[in-house]
Amino acid sequence: MRKYPLAEKYQTPELMAKIMGPNPLKLEEELLTGHKIPVGSLVCDLGSGQGLTSVFLAKEYGFRVYAADLWSDPEDNRRFFREMGLTEEQIVPVKADATALPFAKDFFDAVVSTDSYNYFGRDPDYLDEKLLPFVKKGGYLYIAVPGMKKDCHKNLPPELLLSWTPEQLDYLHDVAYWRGVVSQCKSAEILDISEMESNEEVWADWLKQENEYAIGDRAAMNAGGGKYLNFVKIVLRKH
Ligand SMILES: C[S@@+](CC[C@H](N)C(=O)[O-])C[C@H]1O[C@@H](n2cnc3c(N)ncnc32)[C@H](O)[C@@H]1O
Repeated sequence: MRKYPLAEKYQTPELMAKIMGPNPLKLEEELLTGHKIPVGSLVCDLGSGQGLTSVFLAKEYGFRVYAADLWSDPEDNRRFFREMGLTEEQIVPVKADATALPFAKDFFDAVVSTDSYNYFGRDPDYLDEKLLPFVKKGGYLYIAVPGMKKDCHKNLPPELLLSWTPEQLDYLHDVAYWRGVVSQCKSAEILDISEMESNEEVWADWLKQENEYAIGDRAAMNAGGGKYLNFVKIVLRKH
């Protein structure tokens, strides 16, 4: 059986050139296996980057998507969404800081975030104060982050330091760390925090890219640094 039947449809050089890290579509497909978000739901793709994950959510899952991102240009994303045949009703690009979201309270039915939450979600107050106010009661959060099999920040393996600084590695943490952060949240219940299966294949798609970040990541991964790394999924439901 094919592991990523939906993500495989996007495996073209042009679309893969838009990924900003290990294949986020395969991660998202695993993250959303058996998900509980109804078709037609209003979903925030939080940290949507160049919009590929947002297109995937709109086309493959039938959600109405707000593609919210800080660093990318929403006009570039808007053009990409039109090229992909999506309408303004299906998908809306928004320049937004995840720590100061510009939406009405109780706006979203759900939030999906792939390869971004580790930038802003490590603050234990983040969920209660900055994100959950914009999610409807009963709404789901599905989050996938790059992580570590076991936190080793006090004694970083030299392989990892071939590509990343200690400050960059501080964005990567293990399941126990994320459980510690997320369990302080008062306004949502934890449905799952666990290590994902996706690993080698999502890295392979990324390391093939010829952008400077992918090229920079090759040294650590070619030296075997991948054995310390994983991906972590977090699933929550707002009370
Ligand atoms: C590695 S990219 C992932 C993008 C996309 N989900 C994907 O996988 O292709 C991380 C994204 O997080 C976004 N990001 C980082 N800090 C943010 C913040 N405070 N608010 C909103 N987005 C943020 C960046 O703009 C960047 O596009």
